[in-house]
Amino acid sequence: MPLRCVVLISGTGTLLQALMDAVARGDLRASIVAVGADRKAEGLARAEAAGIPVFVHRLVAGADRTQWDQELTDKVAAYSADLVISAGFMKLVGSAFLGRFAGRLINTHPALLPSFPGPHAVRDALAAGVKVTGCTVFAVDEGVDTGPIIAQEAVRVLPGDDEESLHERIKQTERRLLVEVVKGWEETHG
Ligand code: GRF
Repeated sequence: MPLRCVVLISGTGTLLQALMDAVARGDLRASIVAVGADRKAEGLARAEAAGIPVFVHRLVAGADRTQWDQELTDKVAAYSADLVISAGFMKLVGSAFLGRFAGRLINTHPALLPSFPGPHAVRDALAAGVKVTGCTVFAVDEGVDTGPIIAQEAVRVLPGDDEESLHERIKQTERRLLVEVVKGWEETHG
């Protein structure tokens, strides 16, 4: 049976698109069974165009975070996910989600962890003046970008780079790395 993957996004979804394209060209046997977001993310249209079920699970200001986390857990669990892929999902999951999906929840981050954790990794790398940064795919734990590293790849910072140009160059590598990690996952867990 193909690996059932639920992908979580918050933004443009180009990493999601890379996974979808890999499935479409047969590079991945996995099946993306649903795409979820914490907002009406632009990337949801990519899934809808491919007929993949989508859901939005907003965290309303002042709402109970524990309840939000449990509801998100239930929504993902409804798809019998074998692997949950956070591809630009900008919320930290809580203990209910980790309890249900720990060990089969991976995230991708646009820096060479443990350098530059958190939501502004590309901006922070530029501010630090590093000449090399990169991306990391890791297994999510209860910390912020602290889980066991699965794969990394370096990306050069070029003169004149701003946050947008550097992030796009990182994403070019990130899209390939994420597909490679999911391919490895389906080979060892498939
Ligand atoms: C990726 O760089 C990911 O590492 C970061 O957000 C970006 C998502 O890009 N958390 P996209 O929405 O898939 O284009």
